[in-house]
Amino acid sequence: MSSSGDWTIVLIDDEADIREVMTLMLQDAGYHVFSAPDGLAGLGLCDRVSPQIVMTDIRMPGMDGIQVLQTLKLRHPEVEVIVATAYGEMELAIRALQLDASDFITKPISDTSLFLALDRARQRFTSRRQIQDYTRLLEHENARTAQELSDAIAFQKNLIESSIDGILGCRADSLIVIFNRSAMRLLGYDRNRILNHLYLKDIFSPDEFERFQTSLAADTYGGKSRLYLYETALRSYNGEFLPVQISATVLMDQGADAGLVCFIRDLRELRQLEQKMSDQVQILHQDKMISLGRLAASVVHEINNPLAGVLNYMGLMRRILDKGTLSAERLNKFREFLELVESETRRCSRIVSGLLTFSRKSSASLEPIQIEELVNRCMLLSRHKLDLHHISVEVFAASSLPMVQGDIGQLQQCLINLIFNAMDAMPDGGKLEIRADAVSSGHAVRVLVKDTGTGIAPGDLPHIFEPFYTTKKEGYGVGLGLSTVYGIIEKHGGAVQVESAVGKGTTFILQLPVFPPVSGVKAP
Ligand SMILES: Nc1ncnc2c1ncn2[C@@H]1O[C@H](COP(=O)(O)OP(=O)(O)OP(=O)(O)O)[C@@H](O)[C@H]1O
Ligand SMILES: [Mg+2]
Repeated sequence: MSSSGDWTIVLIDDEADIREVMTLMLQDAGYHVFSAPDGLAGLGLCDRVSPQIVMTDIRMPGMDGIQVLQTLKLRHPEVEVIVATAYGEMELAIRALQLDASDFITKPISDTSLFLALDRARQRFTSRRQIQDYTRLLEHENARTAQELSDAIAFQKNLIESSIDGILGCRADSLIVIFNRSAMRLLGYDRNRILNHLYLKDIFSPDEFERFQTSLAADTYGGKSRLYLYETALRSYNGEFLPVQISATVLMDQGADAGLVCFIRDLRELRQLEQKMSDQVQILHQDKMISLGRLAASVVHEINNPLAGVLNYMGLMRRILDKGTLSAERLNKFREFLELVESETRRCSRIVSGLLTFSRKSSASLEPIQIEELVNRCMLLSRHKLDLHHISVEVFAASSLPMVQGDIGQLQQCLINLIFNAMDAMPDGGKLEIRADAVSSGHAVRVLVKDTGTGIAPGDLPHIFEPFYTTKKEGYGVGLGLSTVYGIIEKHGGAVQVESAVGKGTTFILQLPVFPPVSGVKAP
């Protein structure tokens, strides 16, 4: 607002000629002018035309100028008010200034003092408006910054709270001041019991805390003042120490230690998994030792017989030699005995090498395997024992079966376990059938081990693959056989099924994916 034409003045004076003269003067100077003969009318006019400047006489009948000023400042605080006083009314003029009048002029009003007062009023009005605009802008900016700040803080809080890892923050004196939801869940503290109450050392054992601090200060795990994937234990609310992995960083502020932030990961599941794996390895080993013991007994007989035969034939051959010169007939006999010695020795060697494969290193080694050969090896090792138990055996392997891939020692262990179980289930003899064929889709080979034994009671059936589940008398079974079978077959990408009828018999079915795999069909 610069030219006078933008300015509106309301003039309040009870004297009509003063109103007239002033109106003309101000209009000449370019102002919009409205006038009123008394205070009340003047106020009403102000409400309607919203002037920037009001000029009011002080002494008026009814509402006087001071009252007009007070009311105006209440209703329209931005309006500049100039009061007109008679000569010698200095006290009233001062009172008006105290009530925030912008100026006073004395009657009779001279042009100079009028326009001087108007200029000042305009200046005051303009600067007040600028200050107001500026303040409003500042307030707006302030509010926006405050909102942005509170949004950012809320986001960071959310970030910390939602982290899957536990997050713990502490001040330089190690008082814990941040402890997120995952940390609470892991260690079982509620926020009020830990935040601003506990120090970092309170959630460690003394020894571990010392080790933690030394490692943090050292350059080894992730650098100085940092720890990366550091394994330790933290004390939970109920006093239990939980295995955790911590990554920590010392916070610095202008070169000074400002605290510490730790990311905490629960290691319990990992530890359980490690334990489970080591248990499984242990079980596999134990089962092998047990089976080996039983096999050895069987193998001793198996080797004893051919060895006795060999000795026998050697004796006969020595006698032939003792007789001096060899007739053609004796030479033939000699050859025959030699061939028998050779075949019996080869048989022994096959049995021993079967045992060797069986007892070989426990880590799986993959090789292509012919199912028929696998079955034959197992039969060689257990045939004698089956004979002793009056169990007849029928082996049927479909011709040209596809190969499977696996560890022959481990698969042998599976089949031997199933054969021994079948044998145990037929104490008074029976029939064992071993059948190898391919499934109709051609993607897997099946090996069935079927007995005519006691069968498995429905109550036992859901448990037979659990380690150490046995129904056998003490000293007769440990309960590791089937869990081992299950573990091995699963590792080979195969599956184990069982069908059983009490009093009739049981069939175990092993399924192994063929090698090389048949594309487009699902493995078992
Ligand atoms: N062919 C079967 N006929 C009847 N029951 C069987 C047969 N195979 C397994 N079972 C049942 O399953 C149980 C678990 O067998 P598993 O081979 O795991 O252990 P086990 O034979 O008792 O002991 P281990 O094999 O360790 O010497 C057996 O105790 C038995 O009750
Ligand atoms: Mg068994």
